[in-house]
Amino acid sequence: MTVTTAAPVATEIGAPLPVLGRDVSVPLVTGGEVTYAALDYAASAPALQRVWDDVAAYAPYYGSVHRGAGYLSQLSTDLFEQSRETVARFLGCREDDQVVFTRSTTDSLNLLAAALPAGTQVFVFETEHHASLLPWRRRGADVTCLAAPRTPEQAVASLDVALHGAPKGPKLVCVTGASNVTGEIWPVRELAAAAHRHGARIVLDAAQLAPHHRVDIAELDVDWAAFSGHKLYAPFGSGVLAGRADWLREAEPYLAGGGATRTVSRAADGTVDVEWHTSVARHEAGSPNVIGAYAVASACRALTEAGLDRLADREQRLLGLLRDGLAGIPEVRVLSLFGDDAPRVGVLSFVVQGWNSSHFAAALSAEHGIGVRDGLFCAHPLVRVLLDAAEGEPGECGAPDAAPGETSLNAIRVSFGAGTPEEHVVRFVEAARSLVRDGAAWRYRTEAGRCVPVKA
Ligand SMILES: Cc1ncc(COP(=O)(O)O)c(C=O)c1O
Repeated sequence: MTVTTAAPVATEIGAPLPVLGRDVSVPLVTGGEVTYAALDYAASAPALQRVWDDVAAYAPYYGSVHRGAGYLSQLSTDLFEQSRETVARFLGCREDDQVVFTRSTTDSLNLLAAALPAGTQVFVFETEHHASLLPWRRRGADVTCLAAPRTPEQAVASLDVALHGAPKGPKLVCVTGASNVTGEIWPVRELAAAAHRHGARIVLDAAQLAPHHRVDIAELDVDWAAFSGHKLYAPFGSGVLAGRADWLREAEPYLAGGGATRTVSRAADGTVDVEWHTSVARHEAGSPNVIGAYAVASACRALTEAGLDRLADREQRLLGLLRDGLAGIPEVRVLSLFGDDAPRVGVLSFVVQGWNSSHFAAALSAEHGIGVRDGLFCAHPLVRVLLDAAEGEPGECGAPDAAPGETSLNAIRVSFGAGTPEEHVVRFVEAARSLVRDGAAWRYRTEAGRCVPVKA
């Protein structure tokens, strides 16, 4: 028997894809309730209705994976392996690429960092999210952190120079596909070509690109790509690392435990002998998260069926509305590395003259029911560059101690995607305009590191 997947939900062309939470009302500090406008997709996107329906249809058949003789265990194992194949197709994997199910992008990149051959030199830009900036040094790699480029061409040239001057030995470049701060799309294909010209490998952090754009590993010619289910409308605890098998096959298993081993025995000298799998199971020790993997595969199917290019076109229209709206507020400065004409996904950060970003975000939530993010977005070096921070000037994640109205080293991020109705973007622009024009209607204070409305 098979588990029936949910039928595509009929949506009008140009309408948002149905997501959970689309009708949730939230209270306003000023009285009354409004429909919540979720504009923080870059942190975690809401679950697609299709994903939820697929998970619900499978849930009664849930069973252990790779360990049970029972019918439901067999069925769950089949679904888990089919999910791997679906993800491989979604990412345009090559014949001998592996898809490893992880917990998230952070987990995927830490796995790869743990699999680097000894002496690997890693090249990253300071513009990376901390998940792609930090795992390498921790694993003993020799890390070169390149300065933020100001054009895509400069990025490629700067990588070229760095790799040209690097000593012999294994090399890895790690680059984001789309910035989680500016939304700007990076020249991945060109960076991959530069990496390969110098015998380096490249891993694509697709956490922000995959939910908005087609990512094709073979076409981009990257060696690996990583993404998170919860940013791809599948918030069930799974992520993906897909790509070349060789480094992974030769590395120590990421986690030691059941499922990663072929045989284990007590040796005559009293030690434990282990033969590890060389297949993808090597890095998936422990009981796999079959619901998480199935949810990711369901999201891949749903986005493909809805048409990634069509979704991207719709998102560009919303992005246009957002950018035009903000351009009409002179106090707003949109943050950008590559300039106005750079291609972007639906992620945009800005600061407002005379406002602390945390207070602005708190007022958007408390007075308008709009959820955005404030802070440095786990990309401190990039935000510091974008805000021209002086060396040593500390940034603030969350709310600072500053009083409302004071400026600070942080920003506001709006992000959206396939489930966002146009009305949310329009409402956001109107709310931003009214806050800048009239100020906040409420008083706010910092409590446990968050900026919150003062209780009436
Ligand atoms: C570009 C980028 N890479 C990696 C990550 C880490 O993703 P996760 O928290 O799902 O591990 C994020 C999260 O915001 C991100 O935006």
